[in-house]
Amino acid sequence: MDHSIYDRRRYPIVGVREGYGEWSRTYEQTVHDEMDVRLLDRLRTVDWPSRRAALDLACGTGRIGMWLQRHCPDAAIDGVDITPEMLAVARSTGAYRTLGIADVSETGLPAATYDLCMQSLADEHLPDLGPLYREVRRVTKPGGFFVIVGYHSHFLMAGVPTHFDRAPGEPVTIRSYVHLLSDHVKAAHAVGWSLVEMDEGLVDDAWLQKKPQWRVYAGLPVSFSMVWRQNQPGR
Ligand SMILES: C[S@@+](CC[C@H](N)C(=O)[O-])C[C@H]1O[C@@H](n2cnc3c(N)ncnc32)[C@H](O)[C@@H]1O
Repeated sequence: MDHSIYDRRRYPIVGVREGYGEWSRTYEQTVHDEMDVRLLDRLRTVDWPSRRAALDLACGTGRIGMWLQRHCPDAAIDGVDITPEMLAVARSTGAYRTLGIADVSETGLPAATYDLCMQSLADEHLPDLGPLYREVRRVTKPGGFFVIVGYHSHFLMAGVPTHFDRAPGEPVTIRSYVHLLSDHVKAAHAVGWSLVEMDEGLVDDAWLQKKPQWRVYAGLPVSFSMVWRQNQPGR
């Protein structure tokens, strides 16, 4: 579903490349770890240190690559993203073995390569989840994990699409889509993923300390995490 039927902000809407191309200059100062990193820190089913090859899909400026570097010290980490300006920042982190411009739904990477795939805060920009789960399954080794963290559909439906200030007092929305959590389950099950862990993050005191203007959203779910594992033949 296009987010616009829920949109209460009514900012001008820009496409992904244009939006993140501009936001890349200030993204690191505006994104909060409460959104995704605290959910990653709470996951229990992935044996991070044993991972050897990880792919960070929609890697942006490299926040997740740096998290992976700390938690999977023996893993080679590759990253893909569709916005060159975001990748340029990711390159400066030094966290990645390779970085490439690619759509998460068609990465061009070799099949059965990674024992861990990650994607954080990008699924709301995909019109359809099916191609994402299919492509990640293709590049993941049998038994490998796909960890996805996303902006919660409840929050989009509360009227807040992904947005940033392109200049002081000039907010714009980056085109977003609403995917229900059940849409993730359907898309993942269709291509052989099994859900092994799931969590949700609320607008709580930690959030309100950083964004007091969000008091009106207190208690709402703002992000989710899911850990998927490839079904192995015969299991
Ligand atoms: C909110 S940022 C998240 C970046 C990073 N994962 C993080 O957690 O900080 C969203 C990123 O998704 C990328 N993106 C959006 N749609 C994409 C697509 N179809 N294929 C590849 N990257 C995409 C954008 O370019 C942007 O860098």
